[in-house]
Amino acid sequence: VFTARLRALLVLAGAVTSLAVAWWWWRPRVPSAPATPGLADPRLAGAAEWPNVHPDVAYAGDEACAGCHATIARSYGAHPMAHSVSPAEAASRIEEFGARARNPFDAGGLRYRVERRGDVFVHHESLLDAQGHTLAEVTAEIRSVVGSGQRGRAYLLDRDGRLFQSPITWYPQKHLWDLSPGYTQKNLHFTRPVIPECLFCHANRVEPVADTTNRYVPPLFRGHAIGCERCHGPGELHVRARQEGTEVEGIDRTIVNPRHLTPALRDAVCQQCHLQGQERVVRRGRGYFDYRPGLPLEEFLVDFVKPPEDNPDPKFVGTVEQMHRSRCYLGTRGEQKLGCISCHDPHARPAPHQQVAHYRDRCLNCHAGRGCSLPLEARRAQNPDDSCIACHMPATGSDVNHTSITDHRIPRRAGGAAPPAPPWPRPGKPPLVPFHPGRKDFEEAQRDLAVALVRLGDRQPDQVNRWMAGEALPLLEAAVTRHPDDLAARDAQGDALWSQGRLEEAMAVYEGTLGQVPRREFTLARASALALRLKRMDLAEHYAREAIDINPWRWEPHLDLATALAERRDWEGVVAAGLKCLELNPFSIRARGLLVNALLRQGQKVRAQAEFEVLLALSPSEKREALRTWFARQLR
Ligand code: HEC
Ligand code: HEC
Ligand code: HEC
Ligand code: HEC
Ligand code: HEC
Ligand code: HEC
Ligand code: HEC
Repeated sequence: VFTARLRALLVLAGAVTSLAVAWWWWRPRVPSAPATPGLADPRLAGAAEWPNVHPDVAYAGDEACAGCHATIARSYGAHPMAHSVSPAEAASRIEEFGARARNPFDAGGLRYRVERRGDVFVHHESLLDAQGHTLAEVTAEIRSVVGSGQRGRAYLLDRDGRLFQSPITWYPQKHLWDLSPGYTQKNLHFTRPVIPECLFCHANRVEPVADTTNRYVPPLFRGHAIGCERCHGPGELHVRARQEGTEVEGIDRTIVNPRHLTPALRDAVCQQCHLQGQERVVRRGRGYFDYRPGLPLEEFLVDFVKPPEDNPDPKFVGTVEQMHRSRCYLGTRGEQKLGCISCHDPHARPAPHQQVAHYRDRCLNCHAGRGCSLPLEARRAQNPDDSCIACHMPATGSDVNHTSITDHRIPRRAGGAAPPAPPWPRPGKPPLVPFHPGRKDFEEAQRDLAVALVRLGDRQPDQVNRWMAGEALPLLEAAVTRHPDDLAARDAQGDALWSQGRLEEAMAVYEGTLGQVPRREFTLARASALALRLKRMDLAEHYAREAIDINPWRWEPHLDLATALAERRDWEGVVAAGLKCLELNPFSIRARGLLVNALLRQGQKVRAQAEFEVLLALSPSEKREALRTWFARQLR
């Protein structure tokens, strides 16, 4: 019954989607924080050199480019980047659905199953009893996929314009289904919000709704996969000029060709997505999609990496960081500087039989003179093709998404196994350094570092987190004193105070932010959780209800609400909030515990018993005996 109702609800939810979208579209918009006066947009100054970086220049879309650049469009169309995100019906059919591909599979006590129904994928996650009956289930329709399918494919659910990731991933090399990366440690079920950071690297363009976590202005994707204008900038001026037949002498400045940029700016185009450091911070007053090719990336997004001395053998980092350690990079200057396009054609991937020759050509652009010191016969003896990359760019052995699989350090000799990574972060040593050094705006640089430290601390053990929060706090206090409307810095300040155990002060910071922007989703979620900690139940209820109103599809605020109502012994309220929470995440032990308790308090023993059976099945076996005892006591 539970399952059937859940299914019905999800179907119903689909049906009301369009209505809800229309409603959101017309309802009065909550104003975001006012633009900070005096903060110059780098796109305005940059337009003097490249007019198309001006924020008013519109995107033309890939179809417009293809009309005149048919050969490039065709060749780029076969590149994995041109398939980075697809609507389910257009996705390449790489998945298998049989038992050999582990469909279904069991993980963490739950069963996972996928099916293809016409134009969509349907993912199931269920809890079964010993006889194989379904005790609880979530079913989700998948309408878009992330990944062309080189190493992994992730699946996205769209719930009224809010995007979430499925716990199920297809692993093309192993030909099987399994939990998404990281979910073995922490299973987020169908509730992981897909934040703009993720889509900035994988999708062509989306427009995040201000102050929300994972909501996007419809139409959700403005071009699914990475398109021409992500590397060339908006095309309006160029398309118009070329359609009018304007003569161009020399460089066409209506569109950015990375070839004509300085090496640093040229590489920045690729670093948008291929720089996969520890933390990426959006600068004050900027948004993800503000960056334009031709401008310095760090004027928009600041990337932090481990200090080089903490990463002596960077085997498990992205291609950008690795290339920066290569002798080829370090030993070249000026226009000759090694960059991504020294070896890669951004519009085409070499066919397998052309790969060796393609890369050898690229190496010999620089190494025709001072070439390999191993004589040709010796090379041929080891590698009949004399493949430069087979010996100098071997596989790193990593099969982890977001780390390089080909060794971009270009070593002289392929090393043995990597030495164990040194412990990081080291107490007393700065754990992060900016990837792009030499910023002159010292105060803003400190603010960015402080925000990064707080986020990094959040993923560390408590003690380390406290230390990082302590380092960050004075910088954040200075930042919000200078710019009280810097909400990201305020959020970080609140989090840092919380990590330091200064709960009342943290609350005051969150409330200050909500005083400016009452419906900021991130801050509301923090405020409701902290109000619970402080046992201020009215406040917790208020913030949880606000958070639910903004995003009814996140389960955590429903749990916060149920918790607050339980403290007030509002059992009817707990049952309602608990059921809502369990619809979204039926595997929450805490929510089910609250529900069982509330039903008992209401004297609904039969329903309580049924929910208790589910709770038992969810709980680790060593806890079950104690739970049974507790329940029996309650029944008496
Ligand atoms: C009406 C035809 C037309 C359209 C539409 C068009 N281009 Fe062009 N583009 C040209 C011509 C002609 C040239 C110059 C010759 C060449 O390089 O093919 C050019 C040159 C370029 C260059 C090289 C500029 C330089 O100076 O190095 C880039 C990059 C470029 N186009 C990108 C794009 C992108 C991206 C789009 C879509 C937003 C686009 N073009 C749409 C006709 C067009
Ligand atoms: C908007 C983000 C973005 C930008 C900008 C970008 N890339 Fe990519 N790139 C990706 C993503 C995402 C993938 C993985 C696509 C997939 O397989 O789903 C990828 C894949 C690749 C691959 C691997 C192809 C393969 O064989 O699997 C190469 C090589 C590459 N990019 C080079 C470049 C270069 C060079 C630049 C700069 C000129 C660049 N990229 C700019 C996001 C980007
Ligand atoms: C900083 C940019 C960046 C962010 C953030 C990012 N990715 Fe990626 N991702 C890439 C690039 C570039 C590749 C391809 C090359 C690689 O693995 O380094 C990739 C590879 C992948 C692949 C494998 C694609 C294939 O065809 O094999 C999947 C799946 C994926 N990412 C999912 C995600 C999801 C889901 C998120 C957000 C929750 C995310 N990524 C966040 C840049 C990013
Ligand atoms: C991943 C980044 C990226 C994407 C996506 C991309 N380009 Fe390019 N494009 C470049 C870079 C880098 C160059 C300079 C290449 C070089 O000179 O080696 C370039 C060069 C060009 C040129 C100059 C002529 C030439 O052959 O080099 C044209 C025209 C062009 N691109 C059009 C397009 C069109 C049309 C699309 C979409 C179908 C597209 N590009 C997609 C990065 C990209
Ligand atoms: C943009 C020019 C450029 C390109 C392209 C380039 N290299 Fe280099 N590479 C250099 C320079 C310059 C050095 C010498 C650096 C030094 O002496 O400090 C070098 C050094 C090396 C070394 C010696 C490394 C060591 O630790 O002693 C190897 C091996 C090498 N390159 C291999 C390659 C291979 C293989 C390719 C192609 C996949 C390639 N390079 C592409 C410029 C380049
Ligand atoms: C010296 C040559 C060279 C340079 C420079 C280079 N690459 Fe590569 N790259 C390769 C080779 C060789 C491969 C493996 C063969 C293939 O995938 O075609 C590769 C593979 C990749 C892949 C696929 C994933 C992997 O690790 O195999 C990505 C993504 C990528 N490169 C991105 C980049 C980016 C971004 C840059 C600039 C920071 C860059 N590369 C610079 C030679 C190079
Ligand atoms: C069979 C493996 C193999 C192949 C294939 C190979 N190399 Fe090497 N290469 C080596 C080894 C081993 C060394 C180091 C020899 C030494 O220490 O003197 C070396 C050294 C080098 C150096 C450093 C030279 C110096 O003077 O310090 C460069 C540059 C280089 N190789 C480039 C290339 C290029 C370019 C190609 C492709 C045309 C290539 N290698 C093909 C194994 C190979």
